[in-house]
Amino acid sequence: MAAIHRRPSWAIAESLATPEQAFLNRRNLLRGMGLGGLALAGAGALRARAEDADPTADLYPAKPNGAYTLDRPVTPEEVNANYNNFYEYGSQKTIASSAQQLRTRPWTVEIGGLVEKPMTLAIDDLIRTFPLETRLYRHRCVEAWSMTIPWAGFPLSKLVEHARPLGSAKYLRMETFYDPSMAPEQNSFFYNFPYVEGVTVAEAMNDLAFMVTGAYDKPLAKQFGAPLRLALPWKYGFKSIKSIVKIEFVEEQPLNWWQQLQPSEYGFWANVNPEVSHPRWSQANERVLHTGDYVPTLLFNGYAEQVASLYAGMDPAKLYM
Ligand code: MTE
Repeated sequence: MAAIHRRPSWAIAESLATPEQAFLNRRNLLRGMGLGGLALAGAGALRARAEDADPTADLYPAKPNGAYTLDRPVTPEEVNANYNNFYEYGSQKTIASSAQQLRTRPWTVEIGGLVEKPMTLAIDDLIRTFPLETRLYRHRCVEAWSMTIPWAGFPLSKLVEHARPLGSAKYLRMETFYDPSMAPEQNSFFYNFPYVEGVTVAEAMNDLAFMVTGAYDKPLAKQFGAPLRLALPWKYGFKSIKSIVKIEFVEEQPLNWWQQLQPSEYGFWANVNPEVSHPRWSQANERVLHTGDYVPTLLFNGYAEQVASLYAGMDPAKLYM
């Protein structure tokens, strides 16, 4: 198991506790040379487009699922909606206005790989295929901050069943859109887009794994990863991939975006564990957005009862990175 650093997470500046830190210097250098501006071109087009009016708005608010409640207040929408990680729109937290460039219709989700019959689903058909529900979830970022959100959506297990994977499928590999015309940062020299994430089929079948289509009683705002994102509340937030266009069932463990970028700091499993530090900061506590509170981080982000059995018999040293 990785060394346990006792330095409290709040003792470090937030700027230090950001995964992009290793790249900032190079990026700043480029900006200084006038090259970074290329990646920002187009960021002025901030207005939501009329053609993006959401055709599924009638489905919200979705029925609350009483099994998923919280021991903390929900983070106010205006806080959550203005503090996001969405590298397709920049590596700072204030990407909300830039993310309005995202065009969410037309949108399709391709399901393929090791399945009985590959399919491409129009997003509105997909969203209407499964009954939607609202769940209150914790979200714990690997950067040691947390929030709580009323997500709406459907269990990922429903989509897996719909896809009818073959027995040989071991993992789901998911991909975000790739279209620099609506996400100029995707032209960046240093990031290899599209964003990719993965889970095991067993993880996908766990009831906690949730396909998110809405939040705060409305269709998903663009900065949250509209029109379809994942929520895996027992894992660090980077596993919860946004704006999904492709789901492939595969035999090999997928290499995720952060792993590709920084393999010494990010791994496939990324299960929340307060005892295992990130190489550059402690994971023992978390800053709860908006409240000013620092609270102890819980094993599996408080969801151990539901997910610990998924990892029985596995090498614990490997599960938390
Ligand atoms: N998905 C994509 N496509 N691009 C991203 O940059 N960031 C991840 C995850 N999913 C990210 C992504 C990280 S690091 C976190 S913490 C969460 O999204 C943030 O979700 P939020 O902005 O809704 O809080």
